[in-house]
Amino acid sequence: MANKAKLEALLTLINTSARDAIALYEKYGDVPTIDQMEPHPLDDEVDQVALKSAIRTFEGASAQISTTLAPPAHTAINLVQVYDHACVRVAARENISDILLNYPKATRGCYNEVDMDVFANNRLSLILLNANPVRHMILLHVEPVARGAAVFYETLKDPKIAYSYEPTVAPVMYAINKEGTEGTFFDWMARNDGQRESYHTSMRALNVIMGSLAVLTHFPFEKYSTVVDVGGGIGAFSLPLAKTHKNVKIIIHDLPEALVQARGIWARECPEALAENRVQFEDLNFFEQVPVKGKDIYYLRNIIHDWPDHESALILSNLRKALGPNSRVLIHDYVLRQLSRKQAAAEASNLGVTSAPEPLLPNYGVGSMRAYEQDMTMWLVHNAKERTLQDCFALATAAGLKLEKVWDLAEACVLEYSAA
Ligand SMILES: C[S@@+](CC[C@H](N)C(=O)[O-])C[C@H]1O[C@@H](n2cnc3c(N)ncnc32)[C@H](O)[C@@H]1O
Repeated sequence: MANKAKLEALLTLINTSARDAIALYEKYGDVPTIDQMEPHPLDDEVDQVALKSAIRTFEGASAQISTTLAPPAHTAINLVQVYDHACVRVAARENISDILLNYPKATRGCYNEVDMDVFANNRLSLILLNANPVRHMILLHVEPVARGAAVFYETLKDPKIAYSYEPTVAPVMYAINKEGTEGTFFDWMARNDGQRESYHTSMRALNVIMGSLAVLTHFPFEKYSTVVDVGGGIGAFSLPLAKTHKNVKIIIHDLPEALVQARGIWARECPEALAENRVQFEDLNFFEQVPVKGKDIYYLRNIIHDWPDHESALILSNLRKALGPNSRVLIHDYVLRQLSRKQAAAEASNLGVTSAPEPLLPNYGVGSMRAYEQDMTMWLVHNAKERTLQDCFALATAAGLKLEKVWDLAEACVLEYSAA
């Protein structure tokens, strides 16, 4: 494609994807405006796959045009002169959005300036309300993760740990260890109740950030009667599952301290599942123990990405021992897309993974930004990573799992396996 034709094609993609997103909002009424003070009904929809697909193309094409047309120095400085995290930290810690709820008259779109120096909440700033789990995910990123990012270079230059995949020397732990703390991020949280509770609450934010609950409408949970949520935390996935699929009995496996918090939340938010004996909480250390055996579905959301290959292999081999002949394993994580168009096309035709329309970068470029940023987050926090389809395939095959299907949910994927 000639250079100018590429830009024209990107402009068309911007136009069509934005119109697709507008049409989705219009199914619920009006399109949102940035300065509206209440959420839009589509914001809370469980299945956001169509919206996420449209936005992925829109973001990818917009950034690709901008990077093509802007002077390179302009783009490069934009990448590093990013202080949003420092500013959002102040707003989140000081509860500015909550304060503005009581004083409805108070840039980059977060907060409206309704008069000179008078700001009000908007659709974006409401995310920072104290009760919103996304605020907890933001605090996780702007506090411990940011400390790891600040020493990332030093960890690469320190000959004792530069080549180590040990979770105990991940950049965040390297920064924290200077205060005399040892162990993994999870060991550190076991001793810090406030940090741990905020972390588990933040997992509920994944439902909206990654649109993860789309699995509830795409995967046929109605055909199964038992689901084991391995490393299920407080039940960010299982709690909505218990509300939408009353046919399913759920077992949540996690560390004991996570399950204490889980029991309290379920008693408040889904007492009927407790009363009807539809949920059980069972302590499990997935490195040392085998999950409850012979159940229908074993669901692992954002678990394998927390661990380097050695530890992930251990989790999967324990899991494999639990499987019956008809059991299925669902691994729900980002899958990093290939930059090679040939490989992306092969994955699209063999496995049904969508590939980006030309001339978008085959991995959607900035449209897939959260996957690549989260890959970095996993490195900083755990010395771990997000994986490509080949990486996932290699790990699972070595553990005796057979890939049955890829459920591409536009942002993350669910890889469905059986016992090989
Ligand atoms: C990223 S969170 C994901 C939680 C949940 N699957 C979700 O998506 O909301 C990782 C979970 O793994 C749990 N975990 C960490 N180490 C574990 C271990 N050794 N055994 C069992 N669970 C563990 C943590 O307590 C936490 O709940």
